[in-house]
Amino acid sequence: MTANTREAQEDARSEAIANLLAEARRRTLALVEPLDDAQLNRVYSPILSPLAWDLGHIANFEELWLVQTIGDRAPMHGELGRFYDAIENPRMTRGELPILRDAELRSYMADVRERTLEVLDEIEIGPDAEQPLLRDGFVYEMLLAHELQHNETMLQLLQLVDGYEPPWQFGPAAVDSAGPETIVIEGGSYEVGGPAGGFAYDNERGCHAVELASFEIDRTPVTNGAYTEFMANQAGAEPPGYWEPDGAGGWVNAAMGRREPIEPDRPVVHVSWHQADAFARWAGKRLPSEFEWEAASERLDAVGQAWEWTSSDFLAYPGFEAFPYSEYSEVFFGDEHKVLRGGSWATHPHVARPSFRNWDLPQRGQIFSGLRCVRDA
Ligand code: AVJ
Ligand code: FE
Repeated sequence: MTANTREAQEDARSEAIANLLAEARRRTLALVEPLDDAQLNRVYSPILSPLAWDLGHIANFEELWLVQTIGDRAPMHGELGRFYDAIENPRMTRGELPILRDAELRSYMADVRERTLEVLDEIEIGPDAEQPLLRDGFVYEMLLAHELQHNETMLQLLQLVDGYEPPWQFGPAAVDSAGPETIVIEGGSYEVGGPAGGFAYDNERGCHAVELASFEIDRTPVTNGAYTEFMANQAGAEPPGYWEPDGAGGWVNAAMGRREPIEPDRPVVHVSWHQADAFARWAGKRLPSEFEWEAASERLDAVGQAWEWTSSDFLAYPGFEAFPYSEYSEVFFGDEHKVLRGGSWATHPHVARPSFRNWDLPQRGQIFSGLRCVRDA
């Protein structure tokens, strides 16, 4: 390859990344555009950060990895990064931290982005890049994924903001009712794990084979209608998050301070793992393991409506190596967190893929979580 071609390729790569980063930032800012500073700083829930923290954390993560680590610049605000460390600062404490707010926060986000693009111009990010962080643009893909994933966290918080006017249509679309109810997946050996080429997080890396027995999986996720039936017929069944009694024996959706009818043909969201597990047992079925889910994903319209709870604990794959930092995945491994697969209506398609492993505590329902059932075949 000539030097010119190489340079042209490098330029094209940099431009593609710059465009994706700009798109993610437009999305971040569009989400908070309808809000005032008081709303950005307000703590709405002990299990979700104030939006100002998410915004500063998005920028600080970018400063840390791109501007400081790759670009070798000094931090712009001294020790500020401490307060944006997600492990050091549990969500419950984030409202009280001396983080950037208001105009200062907005200019920090813009200043970091300016430097990030400066650094992008200075470095080589192709397949031959020496640093693993730069090879195939890994660190930029990580940055992009990080901002888009925090968009989803922000969307979770926005459900709590009374009178919020969404900048685009929120919520899952109706399930496609045409087609068979279930799909049979033959037993055998299946490849699971992150794509060989392209970006993957450390926790999904290590493509490997797993043995599965034959099973039958629902073609569509569980709907609000089916969940309503479950609640009517199973003593002790709890409503999903944001459902409130309508006063006439039914339910309304009370997200964003509204009271809207619950659409029976949409996937149910905001259910906890415990609720999902109870639903599946009530239906005479069970939750899929994360590998059953992944093996079936090729045959299903599986990504982009609701995250789907699986029966699997969030554990390391064989040969796991933390990259680039153990606080992304490794510190969460164990039997405390359950894996979710799929991706929700709030997940940007750029970060939704069948091998992606999401995780949360089994009691949590603030995420856009639903389920799909299986039974042994
Ligand atoms: C993959 C959604 C569980 O929010 O803890 C954001 C994503 N990691 N910043 C999380 C993440 C670092 C992560 N989840
Ligand atoms: Fe983060």
